[in-house]
Amino acid sequence: MAIDRAVNIADLRRRAKRRLPKGVLDYIEGGAEDEIGLDENIRAFRRHQLIPRFLTDSARIDLKTELFGKTYGAPFGIAPTGLAGLFWPDGDLMLARAALAETIPYVMSGTSNARIEDLPPDCARNAWYQLYTGRDKAIDLDIVRRAKAAGIETLVLTVDSEVRTKRERDIRNRFSGAGFRPLLMLEALLHPAWLSGYRRNGGVPRFGNFAPYAIDPDDAESVYEFMIDHLPGNPVWADLERYRRLWKGNLVVKGILHPDDAVRAVELGADGIIVSNHGGRQLDRGPASVDMFPAINAAVGGRTILMLDSGIRRGSDIITALCLGARFVFTGRATLYGLAAGGLPGVSKAIAILRHEVETVGRQMGCARVADFDGGRLRVGAGAGADLGRA
Ligand code: FNR
Repeated sequence: MAIDRAVNIADLRRRAKRRLPKGVLDYIEGGAEDEIGLDENIRAFRRHQLIPRFLTDSARIDLKTELFGKTYGAPFGIAPTGLAGLFWPDGDLMLARAALAETIPYVMSGTSNARIEDLPPDCARNAWYQLYTGRDKAIDLDIVRRAKAAGIETLVLTVDSEVRTKRERDIRNRFSGAGFRPLLMLEALLHPAWLSGYRRNGGVPRFGNFAPYAIDPDDAESVYEFMIDHLPGNPVWADLERYRRLWKGNLVVKGILHPDDAVRAVELGADGIIVSNHGGRQLDRGPASVDMFPAINAAVGGRTILMLDSGIRRGSDIITALCLGARFVFTGRATLYGLAAGGLPGVSKAIAILRHEVETVGRQMGCARVADFDGGRLRVGAGAGADLGRA
C-alpha cells in the first residue's frame, strides 16, 4: 500500500512491518517481559468513551495549542525515540522536519543517531531535547550545553529508565544498537528496500551525540560501547534540582506515574511533566499513563503543565487525554510507524492522520476548539476491543 493510501496508523504499521526486518520492527513494537503494560496502554484508552454534544456550531475546529509560550498547530508532538536512524536513514531528521512542517514539537531522543548539531537551525528551534543522565556528569552537562547552543529551549529529563529492562523480543532476536547478528542479517536480506538504506548509511548508525566522547568517534561500535558504559546514570532528585539550577529554559520531567513524585517534581521547579509508562517498555506491571493521570492531575494540575504519552494510536486517544486534563500529548510508535513506512512523507502522513482524526472526532463531539475537550465529555466505561491491533 502506498503511503498516501494509508487510512489509519494501523495501515502505516502494516507497511512498516513489510519494510523492516522482524528484529527491527520488534525493537519498535516490543515492551517489557509479558507486554502486559503495552496492551494495557491500548485497553486503558478504550475504557474511555467520548460524549458528544449537538446543535453547536462545529463546522470547523481550531486545534491551535499554546505551550511554553509557543503556538503549535495541534495538541500533540513527537516523543523522543532512540535509534530512529535504523528505521530510515537520517530518521531523526525526518521526524524533526515533519514536526516543523506540521507545526508540532519534536523531542530529540538522548539516544538519537543524528547529532544535535545536525538539526537545521529552524528544526532545532522547534525541537526539545531529552536527556538520559549518565555516569559522567561533565558529559551530561556538555550535551546540555550543546542543546542550548543549538537553540533548544526545552529540556526533557527522562526518569523511568534507570534499569535496562527485559525486552524479550530483543533478547531473542539478539538485537542491539551495536551491530547485527546472523539471524538479523538473514532477515535483512529478505527486506531489500530497508537493506539498501542500511548499507548506504554504512550499517548500524552511530549514536551521534555520544561520538565526541568515544575512543573512536567515527566507529559506531566504539560509540555504542561508550554509551553503554555511560548510561544509565541512576538519576536522583538532587539531579533534578541541579538541572533546575543549571537550565534556565523549560524543564520537563518524563516518566512520572506516582502523584507524590509529581508533587516533588513540581516542588523542585519542573515546568512540565509527561505522565508516561515509556510505551510499556519499562515496568511491565506498571499502570497505563491514562489510568494514573487523574490522580496526578488532582495532585499538581494547575501548578505545572501536564502532558501524557503511551498508547496513542488514534485521534480519539489524543482527545481522551485532553479531556482528562492533559495540555499536550506525545506519540512514540504512531509516528515511528510512519517513519519506517515511508521516511519523511510517512511521518507527515502519520501526523496528518492523527490531526484529521482529532478534527473529525472533535467536531462529532460538538467541539470547536481544544479547550472544549474537558472532563464533562468523558465517561469511563467497561470499554471494548479484544483486538489490540498488534497481530
Ligand atoms: C522510546 N521511548 C523513549 N523515551 C525516551 O525518553 N527516550 C528514548 O530514547 C526513547 N526511545 C524509544 C524508542 C522506541 C523505539 C520507542 C517505541 C519508545 C519512549 C517514548 O518516548 C514514549 O514514551 C513511548 O513511545 C510512548 O508510547 P507509544 O506512543 O509508543 O505507545
